[in-house]
Amino acid sequence: MKLNENYRSLSRSYLFSEVEKRVGAFREMHPNQELIRLGIGDVTLPLAAPIVAALHDAVEEMKEKQTFRGYAPEHGYPFLRAAVRSHLEGYGAVLQEDEIFISSGAKDDLAGILSLFGAGNTVLIQDPVYPVYADTNILAGNRIVWMRAEPENDFLPMPPKDGGADLIYLCSPNNPTGRAYSRAQLEQWVQYAAACDAVLIFDAAYEAFIGQHGIPHSIYEIPGAQTCAIEIASFSKTAGFTGLRCGYTVVPRGLCRCGQNLNAMWERRKAVSTNGVAYVIQRAAQAVYTPPGWKAVQDAVSYYKKNAAVIASALQSAGIPCCGGVNSPYIWMKCPNGMTSWQFFDHLLQTAGVVGTPGSGFGSAGEGCFRLTGFGDAEKTRQAAVRLVQAAAL
Ligand code: MLT
Repeated sequence: MKLNENYRSLSRSYLFSEVEKRVGAFREMHPNQELIRLGIGDVTLPLAAPIVAALHDAVEEMKEKQTFRGYAPEHGYPFLRAAVRSHLEGYGAVLQEDEIFISSGAKDDLAGILSLFGAGNTVLIQDPVYPVYADTNILAGNRIVWMRAEPENDFLPMPPKDGGADLIYLCSPNNPTGRAYSRAQLEQWVQYAAACDAVLIFDAAYEAFIGQHGIPHSIYEIPGAQTCAIEIASFSKTAGFTGLRCGYTVVPRGLCRCGQNLNAMWERRKAVSTNGVAYVIQRAAQAVYTPPGWKAVQDAVSYYKKNAAVIASALQSAGIPCCGGVNSPYIWMKCPNGMTSWQFFDHLLQTAGVVGTPGSGFGSAGEGCFRLTGFGDAEKTRQAAVRLVQAAAL
């Protein structure tokens, strides 16, 4: 038997599992201390009423013989593919329904998408990064070339002057830094990907948080992207689906490499690897794009962004450098007093009872930085901001 030896090359543990382990140990030692959790980017507001109503209606349909549904189409129900298509068209990204594949979430497809490519590819990935891009490429046996995201490039690395790539990962608005690429910057990336025949994998999980003009929501707003980019998106952060699980991936029909059509390959991959996402969940996702659904999810996004603004303003008034929050739920801060990321994690947990995410867990360029999320409760976030500044001064 042969095992995938690349598992040996992964870091000791997955970032969020390590955070949970340390929080668990702290809880055992201090069972009565109330913790404020601004670590993993998990939503805390309940599902919006129009989404819950759609779920209920769909469950009712499943009760009746005439409306009961069995296996879902593996590419997604036409009603949801159509709803996603028209959502993207609203941003000026014109696609066909058969280019949109409904998924059980962005993370699942970020892992699955690599089945389209062979081993040994050269992959450009930002550092710091959502750890899933790096780990899935290590497991696939690819060669990662890191692009540092740092204050000098405004945390938005641009295409390298020399050297090509086979795959390029971009996440905009970015996890973890909270920064977002402008249209002009994404144009440069699309031109670069096309010039080196690379495929750009664009993670749009946080598109609903974009608050500024001139920041594309979809890579297909950029001319030329339909022949060089795949987009992966999710209802998790947009509409609170972290527990329900639903997303979508766009693989345009014009995307061909090495004589093969990637849309046809992905369609085949879906056919052999999934029986689709549950009907009731897809009806709930469809409700996100109705006028009351969209209004409700926008309200939730504003709530989270206000939390991010509270954290950012506390840090700024304490003179602690930070970015993010404007087009993103994440705040990326410099650890105070020269602390390493994990030192600050422990310090903040011990002295303030606040949980964040150590920047070094997102890559070596994140060392000395720390990520906080706006996904918490508003009142608790206010308390956390005060405690954060106090802890930074200790
Ligand atoms: C994060 O905190 O980076 C994300 O919530 C993790 C995820 O989406 O899997």
